[in-house]
Amino acid sequence: MNKIAVLTSGGDAPGMNAAIRAVVRTGNAKGWTVFGVYNGFFGLINGEFQQLSVRDVGGIIQIGGTMLGSSRCPEFKTEEGQLKAIDQLQKRGIEGLVVIGGNGSQQGSYALHRHSFPVVGVASTIDNDLYGSDMTIGVDTALNIVLEAIDRLKITASSHRRGFLVETMGRDHGYLALMAGLAGGAEKIVLPEYKTDPEQVAQVIQKAYEKGKRHAIVVVAEGAEYNAKRLSEYFELNSDRLGFKLRVTILGHVQRGGNPGAYDRILGSRLGAFATQQLEINNYGVLAGIIDNQLTATPLSEVISNKKLLNPELVKLCETLD
Ligand code: ADP
Ligand code: F6P
Repeated sequence: MNKIAVLTSGGDAPGMNAAIRAVVRTGNAKGWTVFGVYNGFFGLINGEFQQLSVRDVGGIIQIGGTMLGSSRCPEFKTEEGQLKAIDQLQKRGIEGLVVIGGNGSQQGSYALHRHSFPVVGVASTIDNDLYGSDMTIGVDTALNIVLEAIDRLKITASSHRRGFLVETMGRDHGYLALMAGLAGGAEKIVLPEYKTDPEQVAQVIQKAYEKGKRHAIVVVAEGAEYNAKRLSEYFELNSDRLGFKLRVTILGHVQRGGNPGAYDRILGSRLGAFATQQLEINNYGVLAGIIDNQLTATPLSEVISNKKLLNPELVKLCETLD
């Protein structure tokens, strides 16, 4: 292998830069030429390539987001788009590609693999919803941002004896909400993976006040059937009967834009280097991830056909500790 490329795709995640840096520097150390592809699969289809030297990736490890830019690219879901992308790679003599991204992006990686192009994925998304990695690059930083918000909300909630609904990102996976709820001491956590009865949420809030608490924090995942909007509408409609109103905070993209903490810088560096090594040993069509603290290469076919589950023990623990 002489020439490889690296891109970032889907939602950006703190630590992606560490992974890009590791791919470029590991590749360069092997004597390879490394190209950065700008703007994810869109840039791959449209030929946005630039050769990256060791110095080009200096000073980025501590910065959030991705120096390469990212995109959502519907065209890449089509066979035509994928073939255009492969043509762009082949005409530059590029023999391997590292795709840093989440669930959707790794479906894209798998599409390239099915077209026999050598590709290795790197697990990176604040959603932590990728089968094949216990942790994905970015989720730890995002979680700490959510926690800081919950801690602050608790202070003002306690001053006013108020309840708060705090909505986290996570698309259809409840990891961020569950862990933020556990670490933030939430009274209730509403997850996409479990059915929610709004009346039961109301009871938990009422009980919190009966127990003498001065606040009630309900952490809600954006993908839950009763997300913050639906839950607050329900409480508003029944406010006379329930006897309380809730303030709502939707954290949104603030969760994604932080600078990476130590964990994500280290994970990004390790997975980026590991992915590059997989290209060297011709272990293509795999996802570079971390399982039981060991770096792993899981076939993309397995990654995209399995759903990552929440740890039910932690769900139970939250119910005990509320
Ligand atoms: P993430 O990777 O963060 O989950 P998305 O789900 O938006 O983000 O996926 C990122 C991009 O990956 C999409 O815009 C598309 O270009 C590509 N992608 C997603 N699903 C597929 C698929 N089934 N086949 C090919 N490419 C896909
Ligand atoms: O996949 C990461 C993520 O932040 C999800 O948690 C969220 O649902 C989605 O991206 C938001 O996408 P966009 O940035 O396109 O609004």
